[in-house]
Amino acid sequence: CASADAPDAWLGIAPPPHHPRPHSNHKGSHGDVLVLGGQGLNVNGAGMTGAAVLAARAALHGGAGRVYLVPLDAAGTSSVGWDTETPELMVRTTAHLTSEWLEETTVVCGCGGGDAVAPWLQQVIAHSQALVLDADALNHVAASPTLQQALRERSQARGVAATVITPHPLEAARLLGTSTHDVQSDRLAAAQRLAQELGLICVLKGSGTVVAMPDQVPVINPTGNARLATAGTGDVLAGWLGARLAAQEATPVQTTCHAVYQHGRVADDWSVQRNGTLTASGLVRHLGRH
Ligand code: APR
Ligand code: MG
Repeated sequence: CASADAPDAWLGIAPPPHHPRPHSNHKGSHGDVLVLGGQGLNVNGAGMTGAAVLAARAALHGGAGRVYLVPLDAAGTSSVGWDTETPELMVRTTAHLTSEWLEETTVVCGCGGGDAVAPWLQQVIAHSQALVLDADALNHVAASPTLQQALRERSQARGVAATVITPHPLEAARLLGTSTHDVQSDRLAAAQRLAQELGLICVLKGSGTVVAMPDQVPVINPTGNARLATAGTGDVLAGWLGARLAAQEATPVQTTCHAVYQHGRVADDWSVQRNGTLTASGLVRHLGRH
């Protein structure tokens, strides 16, 4: 992940360089992240209450200047009064989701939210400055040729680097219309196909996370281990990545490689230094030190 988006420049994922903050910076210098997701029920009638909170907390620890949480309830509207343990998070309702605001913001969408996230996808795809789509958002994209077309149009208008998707193997399989077995049998090809067909950066998660983008050689992240195999760590990656993209310290593909590397590195360090479980919340706290 050395310099520009030339093929060789990001072959091999490495630790990110340290970016000291200029003394005169203010919170507006480090980007705004908006997390849209929450407790809406999914097709199985199960909500993911904590997913958006984990993503938002990770975005805070990732150094975003401001982090906004737009929690969705099952009806697709917003429920306020969340996460009193993290008073730094600013809660907003869906009434605030204007195109003007989205144009200035990095949006992390789909960490929880179920069906409630669907009505907002067209708008965030059309207008968000940078976009990370995960989980529920990806499942809706998989089911909607209209949203897939909207992503291609976004790619043409804003470039492939404006959007990152972070599917786990089942989400990738849904997007590709194939099986998890097929995805896992050639992870590099699956990630590359998604990047190519939708015109974006694809992070195919799992053991040996793959980062792919159109017309480039995909790379495999060397960090991470099965301590990450616990619910919520994917939401943490989405929020962390959103914050790192919002900071605009490197190109989006470099930033994506670095974020994936750091996420896995915490688990590797944890394995060396400690026994016991690494929870998603613990991962958030330790990511902030990397
Ligand atoms: N090695 C390296 N990294 C791993 C490994 C492993 N063996 N197992 C998991 N990970 C990493 C992945 O690369 C990813 O970054 O942990 C993270 C897991 O992310 P997700 O699969 O998105 O899981 P998450 O969303 O946090 O929680 C799972 O989501 O699909 C729903 O209902 C499901 O409750 C479940 C929840
Ligand atoms: Mg997930």
